[in-house]
Amino acid sequence: MRTLVLLLTIGIVDLGIGQHYSQIQWLSHLRRRQWHAGLQAEDADCPLECNCPSAYPTAMYCHSRNLQHVPYVPSHIKYVYLQHNQITGIQDGVFDNATNLVWIVLFHNKLTSDKIGKNVFSKLKNLDRLLLDHNDLTHVPPNLPTSITDLRLGHNKISKLLTSSFEGMANLTTLHLQANDIEDVGGVFKGFKSLTMLDIRKNKLRKIPDNLPVRVQQLYLEFNNIESIPADFLTMYPKLQFVRLAHNKLTDKGLPSNVFNISTLVELDLSFNKLEKIPVVSMNLENLYLQGNKIKEFSMSSFCSAVDMSNFSRLKMLRLDANEINAKDIPAEAAYCLRHVAFIDV
Ligand SMILES: *[C@@H]1O[C@H](CO)[C@@H](O)[C@H](O)[C@H]1NC(C)=O
Ligand SMILES: *[C@@H]1O[C@H](CO)[C@@H](O)[C@H](O)[C@H]1NC(C)=O
Ligand SMILES: *[C@@H]1O[C@H](CO)[C@@H](O)[C@H](O)[C@H]1NC(C)=O
Ligand SMILES: *[C@@H]1O[C@H](CO)[C@@H](O)[C@H](O)[C@H]1NC(C)=O
Repeated sequence: MRTLVLLLTIGIVDLGIGQHYSQIQWLSHLRRRQWHAGLQAEDADCPLECNCPSAYPTAMYCHSRNLQHVPYVPSHIKYVYLQHNQITGIQDGVFDNATNLVWIVLFHNKLTSDKIGKNVFSKLKNLDRLLLDHNDLTHVPPNLPTSITDLRLGHNKISKLLTSSFEGMANLTTLHLQANDIEDVGGVFKGFKSLTMLDIRKNKLRKIPDNLPVRVQQLYLEFNNIESIPADFLTMYPKLQFVRLAHNKLTDKGLPSNVFNISTLVELDLSFNKLEKIPVVSMNLENLYLQGNKIKEFSMSSFCSAVDMSNFSRLKMLRLDANEINAKDIPAEAAYCLRHVAFIDV
C-alpha cells in the first residue's frame, strides 16, 4: 500500500510539471505505473496487446505499443486508449460487442479514411468522445453516432465537409477541425444545436463560415485567409463571447462599421492582420488584441462614445504593440475611458 501511495504522489508531481498533461494522459500514466508495480490482476477477456486492470474494470489501455491494428474490444469496456500507435485502419466489427463504449482515444496514429470501415462506429449508441487528431484522414468518418459530444479531428488532411457527415449530431458541444485543408464549410454546422466551441484554426478559409451553430460561444479562426467580416456576423450569434481571428488578411475595408460593437463579446483577437484603424468595440469587451497590424492612430471613439463618469470601457487587456503608433499618440483622457486597463502595450 505504501508503494501505491508513493506512486500516486509521483503521478501528481508529474502532473504539476507537465503543463500539457491531459486528463487522459494522466489516467493512463497513473495506470501504467500501477501496472508496472504489479499491483493489479489482469482481466481474462483483455486482448494480449493491451492492459485491462481490474482496478479500472471498464478501461482498456493499448497506447504507445506500435500497434498496427485495433484489437477486438470486449463488451464491458467503456474507455479505450489507442493513442500513439501506428494504426492505419479500423476494420468493421472491432467495436461490435463494445456497445457501451463512451470514449475512443485514437490520436497520433496513421489512420487513413479509406481504411476505416463504413459502420465501425455506427452501433456505439453511448459514445461521448471520439478523439482522432493527428492522423491522415481525408474525410470525416461516416455514420458517426449522434450521441457524441466531443469530436476531435484536428491535424488531419480533411478538405471537404459533407452535411451527411454530421447528420443528427444535436448533442455535439465541441468540434476540433484545426490544421486541416478546409476551404469552405458550406452549411454543415447548421444542425449543431448544442455546439459551443468550434475550432477551425489553420485551414484555408477565405470567409467567415455561413450558418455557424446558433449557440456557439468560442470561435477560433486563426491562421486562415479571411479578408472581411459580414456586417451582421455577430448579431446572428448572440451567444458568441470569444472570437479569434488572428493571422488572417483583414483590412479596414473588410470590417463594416460597428461589426464588433456587440455587448456580448468578451474577447476579440484581431492580431496579425492588416488593419490601419482601431475598430469600434463595445464598452463591455474585456480583451482586445490588435498587435501586429498597421494601426497609425489611437482613436478614443473606438472604445468610448463619450468620455464622462458613467461612460467607460470594461477593457482590461489592450495590445497595440508592433503597429505604427507609440505611447505619445495615446491621449491623456484615455485613462478615463480605459480605466480598467493597467497598461497599454505599444
Ligand atoms: C461478441 O460477444 C459474443 C457473446 O459474448 C461472443 O460469443 C462473440 O464471440 C463476441 N464477438 C467476437 C467477434 O468475439
Ligand atoms: C442528447 O442528450 C440527451 C440528454 O443527455 C439525451 O437524452 C439524448 O438521447 C441525446 N441525443 C442523442 C442523439 O444521443
Ligand atoms: C456601439 O453600440 C452602442 C450600443 O448599441 C451604441 O450606443 C454606440 O453608439 C455604438 N458605438 C458607436 C461608435 O457607434
Ligand atoms: C454615456 O453618455 C451619454 C451621453 O453623455 C449618456 O446618454 C449615456 O447614458 C451614457 N451611457 C452609459 C452607459 O453610461
